[in-house]
Amino acid sequence: SAYDCLIVNGTVVTASDTACYDIAIKDGKVALLAPTGILDHNAAKRVIDAEGAYVMPGGIDAHVHLAEPQLFGKGRTADDFTTGSRSAIGGGTTTIIAFAPQDKRDESLLPALEETSLKALNSTYCDYSFHLLISNPSPVALDEFTLLRDRGISSVKIYMTYEALQLRDNQILDVLLRARQTGITTMIHAENGDVLAWMTAKLEEQNLLAPKYHATSRPQLVETEATNRAIALGQLINTPILIVHVSSPSAAELIRNAQTRGIPVYAETCPQYLFLTRDDLDKPGFEGAKCVCSPPPREGKQDHEQIWKGLQNGTFTILSSDHCPFFYDDSEIGKKGAITEDAPVGRFKYIPNGCPGVETRLPLVMSEKRLPVQKFVEVTSANPAKLYGLYPKKGALIPGVSDADLVIWYPDSMQPFSITNDLLHHNVDYTPFEGRMVSQWPRYTLIRGEVVWDRDNGGIVGKPGYGQFIKRERSVWASAELPAWNVEDF
Ligand code: URP
Ligand code: ZN
Ligand code: ZN
Ligand code: ZN
Repeated sequence: SAYDCLIVNGTVVTASDTACYDIAIKDGKVALLAPTGILDHNAAKRVIDAEGAYVMPGGIDAHVHLAEPQLFGKGRTADDFTTGSRSAIGGGTTTIIAFAPQDKRDESLLPALEETSLKALNSTYCDYSFHLLISNPSPVALDEFTLLRDRGISSVKIYMTYEALQLRDNQILDVLLRARQTGITTMIHAENGDVLAWMTAKLEEQNLLAPKYHATSRPQLVETEATNRAIALGQLINTPILIVHVSSPSAAELIRNAQTRGIPVYAETCPQYLFLTRDDLDKPGFEGAKCVCSPPPREGKQDHEQIWKGLQNGTFTILSSDHCPFFYDDSEIGKKGAITEDAPVGRFKYIPNGCPGVETRLPLVMSEKRLPVQKFVEVTSANPAKLYGLYPKKGALIPGVSDADLVIWYPDSMQPFSITNDLLHHNVDYTPFEGRMVSQWPRYTLIRGEVVWDRDNGGIVGKPGYGQFIKRERSVWASAELPAWNVEDF
């Protein structure tokens, strides 16, 4: 056949256009775009009739935690690359970027990269890459940034909190300077670790231990202060930073302000900051532990409104899941790691931080109909591709250039239903979105031209090991000529 697959009669939505045309796929790539009705349907092995459907570049989830060793001392990651990526394709995501966490005891970054690569190899359903998670920015580690680039890794993540990971400001500057010199984008977890540890100790003294006090221990100010500092450090070096998982309107405001002043700061938010509130941490019994993540879900509707606005007005460059899966009932380490035989009440400080969400990210936001569809594609696919050096291989539909990674929705032919954990394909024993109504779910997910998710006909039809490691280029935005800063002085 001339083509492997045709997607016909659909409305194709990219970050830049919405138009009706057919897509012809050959050898895993978008081969041709043609007006509806021209292409011979017999010239393809498979034809998908997308009448009434939205056809979009597949979702790119640039923030997922899979198969991470227990470096922070709490919680076992429930998903490995197989189950986590299976969940991804069931929700329309075709590429994930997971973390390769450096062990603080290592000077080098390479063991992390090698170990994580082995875990993903031959076991992943979707295409993937890694961010290097740096906990020890030793001279050795900094010297390896060039090697990272050679291996197709163009981003690192650093933390301003968590005892095992927190960097001091001078260490952050070391990372940012080297990142600038090597064309790496730095992701920053912005919470003031010293302040929240102090708050946590105060709450513990007063025996305030329930999951809801996790939110009390890290109010918006903790995030806002660290965000301000991260922006200032980024500005000093004049290199692109991305603030991950922003939850606070006050932090978003600082980011917008910096963007307006021309500082290269980008930002990410996540569905938990659009849909969950502090009240979700106050469910009966220990159930609140299911929604413990950092930063925590904020106070209520007003906060959600501001985060939606930030997506609409471009403050948030990307929307990721921060899929960070822990078991609720964990036979080895107790209920969400905090209720054990010797601690029958459980203490919030021992609850591992993070919620699963790689599969629900796109359906939740699509169902809400709050973002114009092109904006939806921008923040869930095109922008993560641009930010992390995957564009236009991913995140676009350019003939001859882009991989045929697609998600196809039939917006008018779905019965609304409520999310239950048994519908999902992760290995976690709960979803924080249990019971929430959705009106949209992807019908097909295609990766490099192959249908891997067919909701009405087999569900997960892809295979673990089909997913490929994708070598990334430098960020579209890191390659912009930034005004000179006297790096030579250092
Ligand atoms: O609570 C969260 N976000 N856990 C995942 C680890 C991180 O900081 O991204
Ligand atoms: Zn036909
Ligand atoms: Zn983080
Ligand atoms: Zn995370």
